[in-house]
Amino acid sequence: MAGPPVVIWDQDVEGLLHYRELVPRLEEALGKFSRRDSTEVIQPVRTTLTLQKHHGFLGLMPTYMENDGVLCTKFVCFYKREDGSSLPATQATLVLLDPEYGNVKAVMDGELITGMRTAAVSAISAKLLMRPEAEVLAILGTGKQALSHYNAFTDMFSFKEVRVWSRTRQKAERFCRSVSGPVTVCVSVQEAVRGADAIVTVTRCTEPVLFGQWVKPGAHVAAVGACRPDWRELDDVLMKEAVVYADSREGAMAESGDVILSGAEVFAELGDVINGTKTAHREKTTVFKSLGMGVEDAVSAQLVFDQWKAKTSQP
Ligand SMILES: NC(=O)c1ccc[n+]([C@@H]2O[C@H](COP(=O)([O-])OP(=O)(O)OC[C@H]3O[C@@H](n4cnc5c(N)ncnc54)[C@H](OP(=O)(O)O)[C@@H]3O)[C@@H](O)[C@H]2O)c1
Repeated sequence: MAGPPVVIWDQDVEGLLHYRELVPRLEEALGKFSRRDSTEVIQPVRTTLTLQKHHGFLGLMPTYMENDGVLCTKFVCFYKREDGSSLPATQATLVLLDPEYGNVKAVMDGELITGMRTAAVSAISAKLLMRPEAEVLAILGTGKQALSHYNAFTDMFSFKEVRVWSRTRQKAERFCRSVSGPVTVCVSVQEAVRGADAIVTVTRCTEPVLFGQWVKPGAHVAAVGACRPDWRELDDVLMKEAVVYADSREGAMAESGDVILSGAEVFAELGDVINGTKTAHREKTTVFKSLGMGVEDAVSAQLVFDQWKAKTSQP
């Protein structure tokens, strides 16, 4: 008889999840997803309900990995908040189930897991698509994803300079104080991305904030915001000039305003590159359009659960 579900909040996740374990699990999961083998991964495109009264959305992200015995779903609510609103813009919860009995094994805070798995996947995109001699990283946005991306990218690569831009200078300065290494605050997007080898866009923009004419040829862009079909972070020039990769082709075609409205072609999924079935065009300007996938949450939640069990079973 299964007991009650374990509840794991972010303060516990913090000590259980590390990029060194997370990154290989996610690489493996991305490869499995792109093989489209239903015994490896079943993951439909996110179902999104509109919460019109509250200017928000509920996203449901179920995933089943039969061979690995992992069944998980994430519930994520996200909102268009007024500037200065103190209400949360995103709240996420992960539920891990036993696929044989159907009982809930664990309920987890989704904030830290989402932050880390998203940043880890962006860092994987950079590992595959960024030029090896990359020296300058630019981060546009200074929120939760900006912080996790700073941590993942500086953990995995050695940049000579990290720049950050925010529409609010105070927030950019606060961001600099919250991270462990030196960061240059830039007053404009153009200044931040000039000559940058890697650019991470982690804003809540609904109109383009990054324009192709400012991007150095051969740079790699990890575009993480704009997860609605009518929201943008990147302009048409960048989308059309770059070789575009996505986490999920179906997800990008259904949810990404940058892909849908620019008419850009998705060249490959990251998993295709990991599987060796598509080329990593490191020499060209590349965009990784991240929408986030249930399989990323599923393997991350399973990792947290395994670590939690190991920790709590110690004498
Ligand atoms: N792809 C994925 O898997 C995935 C996963 C999670 C989240 N996301 C997306 O990632 C983005 C960032 O998430 P987060 O959790 O870091 O959000 P957050 O903590 O609320 O931070 C959002 C950042 O965007 C900036 N911003 C908001 N509106 C802007 C505008 N119109 N122009 C320029 N900057 C603007 C904010 O600046 P101020 O502080 O000045 O307002 C802040 O720096 C969101 O779009 C979210 O939906 C993607």
